[in-house]
Amino acid sequence: MAIRLAVLLSGSGTTLQNIIDHIEHGKLDAEVVCVISSRSNAYGLERARKHSIPAITLPFKQFPDSSAFSWAIWDEVRKYNTDLVALAGFMSLLEVPPEFANRIMNVHPALIPAFCGKGMYGHHVHEAVLAYGAKVSGATVHFVDEHYDHGPIILQEAVPVLPDDTPDSLAERVQAKERELYPRAIQLYAEGRLRIENRIVKII
Ligand code: GAR
Repeated sequence: MAIRLAVLLSGSGTTLQNIIDHIEHGKLDAEVVCVISSRSNAYGLERARKHSIPAITLPFKQFPDSSAFSWAIWDEVRKYNTDLVALAGFMSLLEVPPEFANRIMNVHPALIPAFCGKGMYGHHVHEAVLAYGAKVSGATVHFVDEHYDHGPIILQEAVPVLPDDTPDSLAERVQAKERELYPRAIQLYAEGRLRIENRIVKII
C-alpha cells in the first residue's frame, strides 16, 4: 500500500516535482497528501496545486518562535494521517515530536558531515565546496533530528568536483544525484526496509 507523504518546502519545489514524477511513473509507492511551505511565494505551492495536492502556507514569521512554528507544522501534518515527512528545500530548523522521530527525511546537497549545518543550504554549499578545493561532493539523504543535517544517514553518494566547475555546474551534478537518491530512500521506507541501530541505518 502506498505510504502517505507530507512534503515541506520553502522554495522552487524541484525536489517535490521529482517525487511527484516518480509516483506518476509508478516508481514510488507513495501519495503526496499535502505540501506545506514556510513561504507564501514558494513556487512549490503552485506545483502542488497543479497536481491537486493540498498546498498550505505557514509563514515562519507569523509565529513567535521556532517552537510554535514547529507545532503548527505538526498539527497540520497530523490532519493528513501522514506516514512520512519529506523535507524538500525546507529552510527552517524543526522541533521533532517523539512520534515523528525517524519519520522525517531530508536531502542535503553535500557529503554529510562535510559542508553542512546552519547556513549551509543550496548554493552556499556548492560555493563552500569549491572554495575549500574539495575533489568530491555528493548528495546525502538522512533522517531528521533536532540539529541541522545531523540525523542517521540513509543513502549517500559522491560526485566528482571538476577543475572548471562553477557553483551552478556542480549544483547540476549534485542535484542529478539527489533526484536519484531521494525517491530511492523513500521507496526503501515504504517497503519497510530501513532499520536504525545506534544511528546506523541498515537496509534489510
Ligand atoms: C535541494 O538542492 C536540496 O538539496 C537543498 O535545497 C534544494 C531545494 O531545491 N537542501 C538543502 O540545502 C538542505 N540543507 P528545490 O526548492 O528546488 O526543491
